[in-house]
Amino acid sequence: MRRKILAGNWKMHGLTVDLQEINEISKFSKSCETEIILFPPITLVSKISSSITESSLKLGAQNCHFNQAGAHTGEISAKMLTDIGLTHVILGHSERRTAHLETNEILREKIKAAWENDLTTIVCVGESAETAKNGLTDVFIQDQLTKTLPNHIKINRLIIAYEPIWAIGTGEVPSLKQIKKTHDLIRNLIKNNYGSLAANSIRIIYGGSLNQDNSKDIFSLPNVDGGLVGGASLTHTSFIPIISLLEMQPN
Ligand code: 13P
Repeated sequence: MRRKILAGNWKMHGLTVDLQEINEISKFSKSCETEIILFPPITLVSKISSSITESSLKLGAQNCHFNQAGAHTGEISAKMLTDIGLTHVILGHSERRTAHLETNEILREKIKAAWENDLTTIVCVGESAETAKNGLTDVFIQDQLTKTLPNHIKINRLIIAYEPIWAIGTGEVPSLKQIKKTHDLIRNLIKNNYGSLAANSIRIIYGGSLNQDNSKDIFSLPNVDGGLVGGASLTHTSFIPIISLLEMQPN
């Protein structure tokens, strides 16, 4: 049985004034079976940590460096994230792959660094609009995931997020059939490359324009173990209904 997960990626959003939103999400999460993880900007972490001490809400970072320390101006290491109490990290988000030129090879090193520091890692994969239009999604995802994941994986520290680039922040979502096909493909790939235990244990979540209107049907797909939410995670009024829809799904 895989525990459902809902993750909120705040990207470069969030000021002190927005802490109230996180407090409301934190209060709601106390009664949830679903694992709820927020990825706020690093600037808010210490304030959030001190205000959610009784909560089951988990906190993560949106990136880490592959080295533990060193002359890397502006970077933060996995070790530093663990040091401030974070438990999760997102790696391979398309916004970082594109804007920060993070290759599969760089990401593999980052994943290893995250695992060495006991961070659970959400590894993102997703195809562009052009790749989807050309019918090459399966081939692309297979190649991207195989090249991004290390040869030896930490089953209990890996979550995979399927985020089609063209669905991020656009209001567009793939058809249920397409989402099912890609999630099935990812689960099969994990089975072939890492065995049945890994395939049965690793959570595969969907991201890209999730909201309270479209998430129920997506969450009901057998190989969808939850979601990675961007825009709709920024307020408790848009995020909590999505958590509730996931809570309603049988495990
Ligand atoms: P949106 O939910 O805003 O489309 O963002 C998805 C995403 O990129 C989460 O990582």
